[in-house]
Amino acid sequence: MYEEIRATAAAMVETPKGILAADESSPTLTKRFDAHSIVSTEESRRDWREMLFRTPSLSSYVSGVILYDETFKQSTASGVRIPDFLNSLGIIPGIKVDTGAKPLSGRPGELVTEGLDGLGARLERYHAEGARFAKWRAVISIADDKPSAMCVSANAHALARYAKLCQETGIVPIVEPEVLMEGDHSIDRCFAVTSTVLAAVFAELRIFDIDFRGMVLKPSMVTPGTLADPSSVQEVAEASVQCYLDQVPASVAGIALLSGGQPDQVATDHLAAMNKIGLLPWPITFSFGRALQDGPLAAWGGRPENTASAQAALVERARANSAAVV
Ligand code: G3H
Repeated sequence: MYEEIRATAAAMVETPKGILAADESSPTLTKRFDAHSIVSTEESRRDWREMLFRTPSLSSYVSGVILYDETFKQSTASGVRIPDFLNSLGIIPGIKVDTGAKPLSGRPGELVTEGLDGLGARLERYHAEGARFAKWRAVISIADDKPSAMCVSANAHALARYAKLCQETGIVPIVEPEVLMEGDHSIDRCFAVTSTVLAAVFAELRIFDIDFRGMVLKPSMVTPGTLADPSSVQEVAEASVQCYLDQVPASVAGIALLSGGQPDQVATDHLAAMNKIGLLPWPITFSFGRALQDGPLAAWGGRPENTASAQAALVERARANSAAVV
């Protein structure tokens, strides 16, 4: 029953490829556009993403693209549906299906990700229209009194319900529990919180009888908070790999990391250092958003005449991350 999703999951993390996360919601992409004075409209968002996907040789480095609903339903300027266009390039189309992190009742300042209502029917439609994997992001903050057990448990439970619905529909779930970097916490505290979160997530995934070979885990890296003294690349790589080895079953198809706001080269260096540790039970690759797109967005600036330099910037990042995983 799970053969198809197992094959898809393996293809998503097959060395030397990773995933391009181009699934920013329209408000989030508008904020990114605003920083470069680019006008955000349905058409300009489509132009930006189509330009990224048309990047020559992208499929040598990228196995799949996570799309936002708006893009999933759009067509290229020449009228080809975006999921079909990606398929024609040999790139697997994926879809973000959560509806965002919302305030968690009873725990001011903490969030729980929503989107389970009607999810089964939405997944069936996305599958019929070409999606072969999905993404759901849970957000966990670190502070003296965070995260609460309630926040960890509510998010882990939602991730497992989402993952089950995906697998029943023939869609590979990307399970993304993100521990945010904001704060003055130490790398040891991040290690402890990430360990607790991953343990809770896998406990729920087991209760829901999730096929680990048919899923991809998208965790955050284990780093000190943005306001704390930085750790070396090697320290981050060792702490991250130790945490995953402790908590992630060996049968999981692969780990595809988020970049979480790290400067692009730093994220790449962390990825490379993790892979140098070697003898890991799963591939560790990238599923970066900002660390792949920040450079290209600055180069593009909303101007068609900058297409070649924006695409060159994307290839540079994609190639560097691909080289980091071999
Ligand atoms: O959910 C977040 C994205 O899929 C990854 O984005 O690499 O910018 O953290 P990021």
